[in-house]
Parts: sequence; C-alpha cells; structure tokens
Amino acid sequence: MSQTSAPGQGASAATAASPVNVANAAEAAERAAALRAELMRLNRAYYEDDAPIVPDAEYDRLFGELVALETAFPDLQRPDSPTQRVGGKAVEGFAPVVHRVPMLSLNNGFSDEDIEAFDRRVADGLRAPGAAPTGDLFGDGAEPVEYAAELKFDGLAIALRYEHGVLVQAATRGDGTTGEDVTANIRTVKKIPLSLSTDHPPEVLEVRGEVLMFRADFDKLNRAQEAAGEKVFVNPRNAAAGSLRQLDSKITAKRPLSFFAYGVGELVGVPMPETHSALLDWYVDLGIPVNDRREVVRGAAGLLAFYKAVGETRESLPYDIDGVVYKVNRRDEQDRLGFVSRAPRFALAHKFPAQEALTTLLDIEVQVGRTGAITPVARLAPVFVGGATVTNATLHNEDEIRRKDVMIGDTVIVRRAGDVIPEVVGSVVERRPADARAFVMPTECPVCGSAIEKLPDEVIARCTGGLICAAQRKQALLHFAQRRALDVEGLGDKLVEQLVDQQIIRTPADLFKLGVAKLAALDRMADKSAANLVASLEKARHTTLARFIFALGIRHVGEATAKDLARHFGKLDNVMAANAEELLAVPDVGPIVAQSIANFFAEPHNVEVIEQLRAAGVTWPESEPAAVAPLPLAGKTFVLTGTLPTLSRDEAKAMLEEKGAKVAGSVSAKTDYLVAGAEAGSKLAKAEALGVPVLDEDAMRTMLAAL
Ligand code: IVH
Repeated sequence: MSQTSAPGQGASAATAASPVNVANAAEAAERAAALRAELMRLNRAYYEDDAPIVPDAEYDRLFGELVALETAFPDLQRPDSPTQRVGGKAVEGFAPVVHRVPMLSLNNGFSDEDIEAFDRRVADGLRAPGAAPTGDLFGDGAEPVEYAAELKFDGLAIALRYEHGVLVQAATRGDGTTGEDVTANIRTVKKIPLSLSTDHPPEVLEVRGEVLMFRADFDKLNRAQEAAGEKVFVNPRNAAAGSLRQLDSKITAKRPLSFFAYGVGELVGVPMPETHSALLDWYVDLGIPVNDRREVVRGAAGLLAFYKAVGETRESLPYDIDGVVYKVNRRDEQDRLGFVSRAPRFALAHKFPAQEALTTLLDIEVQVGRTGAITPVARLAPVFVGGATVTNATLHNEDEIRRKDVMIGDTVIVRRAGDVIPEVVGSVVERRPADARAFVMPTECPVCGSAIEKLPDEVIARCTGGLICAAQRKQALLHFAQRRALDVEGLGDKLVEQLVDQQIIRTPADLFKLGVAKLAALDRMADKSAANLVASLEKARHTTLARFIFALGIRHVGEATAKDLARHFGKLDNVMAANAEELLAVPDVGPIVAQSIANFFAEPHNVEVIEQLRAAGVTWPESEPAAVAPLPLAGKTFVLTGTLPTLSRDEAKAMLEEKGAKVAGSVSAKTDYLVAGAEAGSKLAKAEALGVPVLDEDAMRTMLAAL
C-alpha cells in the first residue's frame, strides 16, 4: 500500500483514468462531498490508526474520481479537500516536527501514454520561453531528457536529520508539512547509521527515504505475533508503519525494519550535488543505504525500458514495490520545472497494476487435497487484480478465516501477486452486511462423506477417507502423473475426473491397463489423443527411482527428499524395508518425515499398489546404496539464476545434485555459490551483497570436473 497519489494531481494521469459520471452540478457537489468524507475517513484509518480499511487501488480510484470532479467543476474545490493534503496529522504521543523543506508527494502514471506525456511535459517545460538552455543548446528538443529511475518502495517516508554527521532527528511525513518525531524508534533500526562515515560531514543533511520491511522479515514477524496471540499485520507496509509508530521504542527495536534513501531535504554547508544520481552515490559513500537497482536513462523510451525490466523481476525482489519512480536527473533542471500544487513536475511514480482489490465474498466452499487436507476456498464476485480476473481465492484454513475475520457476504481484500495462488487477505468489517454468515467447517467430507478430523496440534482439517475419497484419488493420480513425477503427458484434470468418477481407475496402477478404445470413448477424447496418452504411459514406465518415490505421494516427501532417498538406499526394497531410525540417516530427513515414510510403507494397500505398478512394467535402474563417504558437494547449497550459455536450468541442477549439492531457489546467507547466466537479476545482486561467490557455467563445469 502506498496511498500516496495524494494532493494536487491536477490533470495528471489518474484524472484521465477517472471519467466524471454525474448528470449535473448538483449531483457533482453531492458526490464530491461524499467522496471527501470517505477519503478523510480512509486517511484517518491509514495514517493515524495504521489500520487501512481498503486496498490502495480502491483509495486511488476514489481519489481519482474526486480529482476528476474537482477538475470538471472547479467551484467544488475546497482547501480542506483530501486532494489538497497528503494524509493524516500527527497523533498524540509523538512530538510534531515541522519540515523545513516540505515532504511532498508524487503524481502517478499508469500507462505508456502517461509516461510519454510526462516526458513531453518535462521536455516542453525545460524548453519553455525564457528557460535557460540546458543540454539541448539550441532548444530544438533533439536531446532526450536525462532521468534517474529507481524503485518505488512500498513503505513509509521518513526524514533523517544529521547535524555535523550525527543523527539528531527522524520524522515521519505526516501531512507533508508537519510530521511526527520518531527519533527514538528510528535509532533502533540497525540499517540506519547513527553517524555518517566521513571526516567532513555537512553542517546539516536531511536524508529522505523509505522505511520498509522485507517480506521474509514480515512473515517471521507475523508468525511470532500469531504465536504470542498479538495482532497480525495485513502486509509488510502496515507492519513497518505499525512498528515505527510504537510509543515504546523497545518494541520497535525488535521489529526488523529496513531503509532505503531516495532524496534530500535540507542541506547546509556543502553544495548540493548536481544530479540526483550523484546525490545517491554520495549517500553510498556516507554509509547511507541506497538501493542499487537504479539507473540513469534518457527519454520516455529509457523510462519504459526500466519499468519493464523492473516489472519482470518484481516478484523476486525480497521486498514489496508498487512501481518505479522517475526523476529528472539534473538538479538545475528540477529547480526550473518546480512544483505544481504539492507534487514536483520533475518526477513521476509509474505504478504497477494493483495486486490487491476489493470484491464480494459470495460463498466459502471446501476443497479436498491429495492428502485429504481440507482447504476453504472463497467464491468471489469476479474482480480484476494482479493482471487477471479472479473468481476463486484460497482462505488456507479455518484458523485463518477466524484470524482474518472473514464472513460470507463480506467485502474482502483479494491479493494476487505473480504466480502465487490468489488469497483473501482480510475483510472490510465496516462494510459487513447484516446478513453476513460465519463459515462452518463441515464435519463430513463433501466428496466421500467420511468424517473430517482435525488433530489437536494441527491447523489443517483432513478428510479421513484416504483413497476411498474420490477427491483424494484424483489428486493422487494427478500427482503421480505430473511432469516431475512419472511425467505422463496428456493426463489432465478433466480426464482424471472422468476416469475416477466412472470408476475406470482406482489406483495409479490402473492407468497402465487403459486401452485406446476405452479412452477414446471418453468426453473430449478422440482416437489420436487416446493413442498419445497410451504412448506416453508406455514411455512413463521407464523412470528413475527418485521420480517413482516422489510419484507415490508420501506425505512430506517432495522431490528433493525423494532424490535423497533414492541416492541413499539405491533400491526401492531398501527404502520400503527401512525403519524410522535408518531413514533418519538420510540427509535432510527428520523425525516427522521418517515417520511418515515408515507409515506409508507399513500400509498394506500402498505396498499392493507398488506391486501392481511393478507388475504393470514400471521399472527404473537400481543401484547399490550410496557409499558411506559423502558426495563431494554434500552440504553445499547452490542457486541458479539467469540463462546459462549451453545448459538448461534442469541440466545444471542435475549436474550439481549428482555431486551431492543442494540446489535452492533463493539466495540467502546459507548459499555457498550462485551460478549466474545472462540476464541474472536480483539474485545476482543479492549474492554480491552477501559476498556469495558467483560462478558462470564454465567455472561451474571446471569445479565439477575437479571433484
Ligand atoms: S520521491 C517529491 N522516491 O512514494 C517526491 N518517493 O508519492 C518525494 N516512495 O512519500 C518522493 N519510493 O513514501 C520518492 N524512490 C522513491 C520512492 C518514493 C517510495 C514513496 C514515498 C513518498 C511517496 C510519494
């Protein structure tokens, strides 16, 4: 959430996106008053209570509508309209701080056209009559404008005042003119230096930037909050805001806050750097954290290229951003462009599509997973969010529904980020209709009628029907056939549904008994697709032990554990015969996993299915159990990123795993090596920041060959 589309957007991009939908001036006045009241209420909730009621996109929409109305009917403009302010005012408890240089807001752009229009406005502004020539000596517009492009962090703005190199005050933005003194809290943020690393500090330097919380830190904090029975935060931004506005700085000290600098307020005693990029470079020298995803680009084309490149890696960044920010790089040009109302003409926020939106929760149904896990699923009024229309979203489990205070009929906040399954993050309790209903977990499985059970220390309720339950059977078959398991091409949901519902198959072994004629008779199937499936089953018969173990769908045994088991035991019979203690000797297998494996093979039905699969001709090469000597890269963790010149990701992964390495998805302090190819993005940056050695494909091959 950023809710920063604030004041004086004037005829900016947001206006263009908000058509004026009123019949006459009287209706406009009425609507504007309603919008003002609602925006003020939302502002209070957001800035003063740290408890936003609606997602950012909804706020932006209402705000845009009011701006549009006030533009179309200038008589409606009021000095106290939320369009003329940045946000709430300082709350009791923190001393007010008057900003010597006001903390302004940014206008927003959304489309390519908005960005092109911004660039044109800037170029025209710099060429305006009487304007001194800049880089473009002849004023003919041939020179594209130079911009500093950076990330738009989704946190909250802060001003850090250093006097003679020492941090003396930290203030929130507040309403842009007066903020709150949060110095005691800011001092607890380890990323923020208490003194500047220079022998010649400026008399005064007011660093402006964003306080934020990394996603992993946020998850950890929420888990701790939950365990302690404290309130959980909706998103990292709220967690950061809530943490910063703690009256007790000892609490803030325990909160994992971060900071990136992106601007300057007052500067006394040294000349202002000539460009924005030079300012940030100087900050780096002073030991002030600056995000390194920043670039100097030219013209609208340069801006759009930056936006696109950042957009592609947005999901893999360890923190939330809600867009990118463009600033005219040269300070003299910035000064000439100046401000309109409360936002600079020389800068623009280019927002990403909102990842959160509001919709109505029509119903809650439950879905049965492969291991019987019952997942409540929200049926939603269709809503466009994160670039797609969403009608279903997960509610995870019953506890989550209670924790998020979600009832059927509620207006809910839906979040869809990247490839992640859409989820309901919370409800707008204030909009709850009188006939809202609470969700009741069914006591019987809606698919097979078996009892639903929840063990005392588990959060997940499960259908106890096991493979009697058609839902579990279907999921087990899909799991068995998936690409990373036996890789049976052409066995999709719809087909599995028919095969199970018509009782044509019960277990994965039955798959191998399917003939072309029987398959071709099914819905959506023809001779060709049936023949292809049979051929693909034929191919799937020849597999590897690791894939076979993974395909069995043993609880807690994912692909990596299946590989470990295959390597350690060499033969399936050895795995089946192993007791929990022997299983514990496998790297990365702990007591819960060991017990789950032992239980699986103790179940006669499972052994029977395995025998049937073997009888159906499913085979794999077996080997001797792994020698006691560990593999040369055992215990080493690699991460792959970018495009390698000759190897696919899977090939590189297989080569590393063969030598005992573990291949992880993200870079952390535990990463031993990063293997990076072309267009490596944030993982490379993170590895460099953490000092993780980086190899290219050649270096990786050389290393492996030497082992
Ligand atoms: S510059 C005069 N740069 O967005 C412009 N702001 O709507 C001052 N923000 O209050 C802001 N990342 O909280 C700027 N790289 C960035 C930013 C950024 C996030 C936030 C900041 C500000 C709001 C502006």
